[in-house]
Amino acid sequence: MKVLPVDGESTRVTLDSLEILNHEYKILSHEGHLYIPITEDGTPPSDMDVVYMDLLPNKNRLLPSDLLPFKITYERLGDIILLDEPDAHQATAATIALLASDIPFKTILNKASEIQGNTRVRKWSLLSGNSTETVHKEYGFEFLVDISKVYFSPRLVTERQRVTGQVCSGERVFDMFSGIGPFTVPIASKGATVTATDINDDAIEYLRKNISRNNVETNVTAHTGDVRNIADEYSHWADRIIMNLPHSANDFLDVAFNIAGKKCILHYYSISELDDPFTADISVLQNVSQEHEVTILNETIIRSYSSSQVHICIDALL
Ligand SMILES: C[S@@+](CC[C@H](N)C(=O)[O-])C[C@H]1O[C@@H](n2cnc3c(N)ncnc32)[C@H](O)[C@@H]1O
Repeated sequence: MKVLPVDGESTRVTLDSLEILNHEYKILSHEGHLYIPITEDGTPPSDMDVVYMDLLPNKNRLLPSDLLPFKITYERLGDIILLDEPDAHQATAATIALLASDIPFKTILNKASEIQGNTRVRKWSLLSGNSTETVHKEYGFEFLVDISKVYFSPRLVTERQRVTGQVCSGERVFDMFSGIGPFTVPIASKGATVTATDINDDAIEYLRKNISRNNVETNVTAHTGDVRNIADEYSHWADRIIMNLPHSANDFLDVAFNIAGKKCILHYYSISELDDPFTADISVLQNVSQEHEVTILNETIIRSYSSSQVHICIDALL
């Protein structure tokens, strides 16, 4: 991240709170700018200037890579290290190296399954420590999360910021697949009235804790259950709808059209083909209802999902 020296400390603190500051390298001062290292898979705020620069390793810190003959892939969630190491021997070696390193953490988890079922929860193997619950910080908000019980991805931070940035105070927002509240909480803090639903009881329990933790109790109503069974209470209610269930949001478009008020903005998430990411979903959106005219406002590629697929968002006016 390239910044002016005057912005150095605030940027370092922001990147650290987003958990994308890369402690493995030193900050470089070069020709009137500071270069602050970020992690390879970190998603920086879109208004920050990301450049490629050779930085010196932080020699004072012992890193897992100093102790291992192979490269490990991990991301951080609060004080948990999330490993993606399918080989059991390498997972054990990685755990030993992480424990011997200077990287601070309390727990190491290794991916033990794909994301599964309608609650979108992954199984994890506990390799070190004793808790799968942690506090993740994002843009000044705190999220208590138990990654063994709920879906959560720190990687969508920039997308959440993009959507939150569009919300005005007083708007009525329906977060159809809210999880622990990473859209709901920041949107409520902007003064919107938010209805959040999730079929996973644990997700709603954590959402309620996160609502209190971030002082947005007066702005959010949370419901446990299938959004399909809750939607009728909110017919024609919403100014904005968030549909972050990318593999099957299309199955719930009738529900979204029921909830939508006049001039409602829909944020529709999908996993699509890299070589033509938007055409198929736009066609789905435009053909779902004869009564509603659908105007496409934005097409956003959020991140790559696999070698041939991307996670996208289409913003549409219903
Ligand atoms: C991909 S996660 C997104 C969670 C959250 N929006 C986020 O960004 O972290 C999708 C969520 O939808 C919930 N879900 C799945 N089917 C549902 C349904 N029919 N009604 C309500 N929630 C549902 C899952 O339990 C899961 O928490």
